[in-house]
Amino acid sequence: MKKFTLLLAMALLSAVPTSAKKAKSEPLTIDPTPRVIEIATDRTSMVLTVDEDGSLMFDYYGKKLDDPTPFLSKKSYRRVDFCTDPMAYITQGGREQRQASLAVTHSDGDLNTKLGYVSHTVDSRGSAVVTTVQLTDSKMPFDVRLVYEAYPSQDVIVAHSEITNRETGDVRLRNYFSANISLTADRYYLTQFGGAWAREMSMFESELTRGIKSISSQKQVRAVQLENPSFMLSLNRPLDENTGEVVAGALAWSGNFDLSFEVDDFDILNIRAGINPYSAEYTLHTGETFITPDVILTYSGEGAGEASRNLHDWARECGGVYDAENACPTLLNSWEGAYFDFDPTVLKHMIDDAADMGLEMFVLDDGWFGNEFPRNSTKQGLGDWQVNLAKLPGGIDEIASYAVSKGLKFGIWIEPEMISPRSELARKHPDWVVGRNTGREMTTTRNQWILDLSNPEVQDFVFGVFDNTMKLSPHISYIKWDANRHVENTGSPYLGADEQSMFWVKYTQGLYNVYKRIREAYPDVIIQACASGGGRVEYGALRYNDEAWTSDNTDARTRVFIQYGTSHIYPSVMMGSHVSTVPNHQTGGITPLKFRFDVAMSGRLGMELQPKHLSDKEKAFARNAIATYKQLRPTIMHGDLYRLHSPYEKGNYASLMYVEKDKSRAVMFTYCFEYRGRDTVCRLKLTGLDPERKYRLREVNVEDKPVFWGEGMVFSGEYLIDEGVNLPLTKRYTSAVFVLEAVE
Ligand code: GLA
Repeated sequence: MKKFTLLLAMALLSAVPTSAKKAKSEPLTIDPTPRVIEIATDRTSMVLTVDEDGSLMFDYYGKKLDDPTPFLSKKSYRRVDFCTDPMAYITQGGREQRQASLAVTHSDGDLNTKLGYVSHTVDSRGSAVVTTVQLTDSKMPFDVRLVYEAYPSQDVIVAHSEITNRETGDVRLRNYFSANISLTADRYYLTQFGGAWAREMSMFESELTRGIKSISSQKQVRAVQLENPSFMLSLNRPLDENTGEVVAGALAWSGNFDLSFEVDDFDILNIRAGINPYSAEYTLHTGETFITPDVILTYSGEGAGEASRNLHDWARECGGVYDAENACPTLLNSWEGAYFDFDPTVLKHMIDDAADMGLEMFVLDDGWFGNEFPRNSTKQGLGDWQVNLAKLPGGIDEIASYAVSKGLKFGIWIEPEMISPRSELARKHPDWVVGRNTGREMTTTRNQWILDLSNPEVQDFVFGVFDNTMKLSPHISYIKWDANRHVENTGSPYLGADEQSMFWVKYTQGLYNVYKRIREAYPDVIIQACASGGGRVEYGALRYNDEAWTSDNTDARTRVFIQYGTSHIYPSVMMGSHVSTVPNHQTGGITPLKFRFDVAMSGRLGMELQPKHLSDKEKAFARNAIATYKQLRPTIMHGDLYRLHSPYEKGNYASLMYVEKDKSRAVMFTYCFEYRGRDTVCRLKLTGLDPERKYRLREVNVEDKPVFWGEGMVFSGEYLIDEGVNLPLTKRYTSAVFVLEAVE
């Protein structure tokens, strides 16, 4: 039943990625009758009004209004010859002077567009209330629909636009953003997430000044580690966890994106979000409609914490993350434990150890394929997705069956969009390689090129890689789908010379076509989105993927920061988090096994090391921690997140807590990552508990003795919230995990 609901939701959502549709060509007339359109959730309102020249204005986004009608009177002080207030969808031409969400070259060469209100509808779709506002140009037969899906109980509004050409010739889309929203405050503080490979989702805050600040990517195929397509915007004061007005947003698009923030000469902030127009002019033929990707928005009057919880609820309950209801199993991944160096015996021993420690799945990573060009290093083999029979003579099924015989599920790695120059596929299909059509020298990154997913034949091939891999054994439950480079050599051998700038969009549309086919054929397979770590941590990919690999950096200390940043926008259920060996392969850092487990247990727990290198004592600790995790998993995966202390704040410690929706149980994690000298306690107020209830506090994953004097004691929720707990964690890489169970 649940799968059916998911598929139904997907069918409805399938309108969301960009696509071209044929439009009806009924004439549309602007109706300038003043009116208010409120898009409301349980606790928020967004208000649009129709002005006296038919312009659709963006008036308000914030806490729920009892009565939005006063905004109608605002028009009396607006000047129609000059736009003091922003419009709901800013175009090049007409009254607006702010950066345009829509800029097109009409079929007659005119660069201007002035949209006016035609009509609007309000419908329900599942739990969403969908408001669709029809606009049309004042001169040309050219229309835009603005679509706002309001999710009442999650306080999330998902917006996109649909652009239709009814002119007699082609229209060239130059800017085709999904939405713009405007906010008014004295000061604006932008928090962005990003950093670099192996430092994904680091947090940076800056106060916005006059002008334009942009968070964007221009490299395609993945959202890139440098900048994530998401933000938190705090009004009047820097971002705080529990107080202040915050608007958070994320774009569901796996290609080039642009989120820009313009503070104008009226001190109004205009946020524009959508596909990056850089080098991406798109031709819209007569009768076609371009559907832009979704922008997911939430407003919180109670700081970043509430904004995150709203987004998490939406992601888990409204299709933001594929099948978020079912958390992924705990697993052992072969990558950092074996890399390319394995045979059936090595893998079977790893499986034995995984089963012995109580893990639920074994994932065979890179290195299992290629015969003429065996994939024994990153130098070759991508594209040749046949089992390397010299390495695995019994095929994948031998390993998968063995895993299943030991009570484990089995998963496998693929990187189907990529091709090694040294591969049989490169010899057979030079016409499938991005950039090969340019006749220029080809660069490689990680010794690989990219397949041209704008080509339907390549889409079939990529679907086939997935499909054929699944057929290697009836026991495959999980696919890790990697994408390890971005586009340096631009160019599609498939698209025509005058269509080259459409490559960026067509690639992502091609990827989504493949994802959709895969989900129709394999609704139950668990898929992890990986892109050199966290390059596909974004809601465009997550709609089809159950989880993501947030970073190739498995150092527990760095992970505290990466996971802390990720948690602002994305829920824990999508966050693969592995215990790896020390010294850590990326950073050289050495952290205790307990610290590594305590960090990994705050997401979807896994291990990524060679278990035979663990001592018996370490294995016993792991066995115990994995068993504990399985008991606590429902709270960690589906509870409300309360961040109790930021790793960026004073103190060199971090803490977070997941609280069951009914407040009956909570799991709290605290990590100290520097020696704290005479500063002897981590002070934590357990916001999020029920002040009226009593909770028994119990430490888990204890190595020697419990750290807290209150071990096993019952405390009132009120005490834990107001007075809190003082944990004597002072040494570098000490940590503690507590369970709080309501006793009355
Ligand atoms: C990427 C991934 C890793 C691993 C390797 C395999 O770097 O992020 O987790 O799968 O590829 O080549």
